Amino acid sequence: MEVTGIADGLTGLTTDPNQVWPLGLLDVQDVHALGGTILGTSNKGSPFRKKAEAARILKIFSASFAAQRLDALLVIGGDGTHFMARHLSEAGFGIVGIPKTIDNDLIGSDLTIGFRTAVDTAVDAAERLRTSAAAHNRCMVLEVMGRDAGHIALETGIAAGANAVLLPEQPFDFARLAAKIEARKALGRESFLIVCAEGAHPTGAKRLYKEEATLGGIGQLVAQEVMKRTRVDARSTALGHVQRGGTPNAFDRLLATRLGVHAVELIAKKKFGRVVGVRRDELIEIPYAKIADARRLVDMDGDVVHAAEASGIWVGRDSRYAASI
Ligand code: F6P
Repeated sequence: MEVTGIADGLTGLTTDPNQVWPLGLLDVQDVHALGGTILGTSNKGSPFRKKAEAARILKIFSASFAAQRLDALLVIGGDGTHFMARHLSEAGFGIVGIPKTIDNDLIGSDLTIGFRTAVDTAVDAAERLRTSAAAHNRCMVLEVMGRDAGHIALETGIAAGANAVLLPEQPFDFARLAAKIEARKALGRESFLIVCAEGAHPTGAKRLYKEEATLGGIGQLVAQEVMKRTRVDARSTALGHVQRGGTPNAFDRLLATRLGVHAVELIAKKKFGRVVGVRRDELIEIPYAKIADARRLVDMDGDVVHAAEASGIWVGRDSRYAASI
């Protein structure tokens, strides 16, 4: 096989001249241990949402695909990327996909590359906040990424032993959060940790935006409300893009290698039109027809949420374990 690297996702094949270069073995030596991407990326907007624009881009893409003598395109990314890739696949191009997003919210796969590394980073931050909270008898709020799906917040909260986790999937009530904190304080506990997804929001309210299209601010609001409604001092920290860069952990390197090898073998067999994913630690192939413009959300009835609640973590709703925050 001859491999061509394409700059910045779809952009590299839809610019004139194309932004592409040969990708040899020496070019990818040691790349498994690097964060980010050596190819560049684009994560804004899809030309396939509007019919006229879709037709225009498809025409340019088609010409580039032929000009670069490509037989197949290996597409690496999250829901937005694979939504675009689905259009290309349906238009007849040889597409194989690999799921990669820290949000872990791609439909069909239990895991996406980057998620476990992001959780490791968030847990490290949460544990640092916990010791600081204990030193000052405070409530620390850690805001992590997670626009629609709260997987990072949930898993970080459990691994770091948080007292509450606020998720986009479960709107919450400030008065009840405050009551939980007061109940724990009454047990003699003086420090608190809340992990909150950026897309979490109180019941009946909209998500908070830092600026147009960029979520942020819910962590700060939670800290303010805790101070207003309880006798506990509170501070907030937004982890931001710290959790989206840096060295991948061993799990992600292994996952990326497994998915990558299988994807290349599919291309060799000309088995296109699918995303390679993982289900119960086995590799699976998800047909592009099943990749919808939707996300895999936290299952509020699943065992991970159950583990959180049974461990005394408040996830924004009543449960039979609610008293133990
Ligand atoms: O990759 C997905 C994501 O991490 C979301 O959780 C977050 O809302 C978004 O990216 C932020 O991306 P950007 O700052 O690049 O717009």
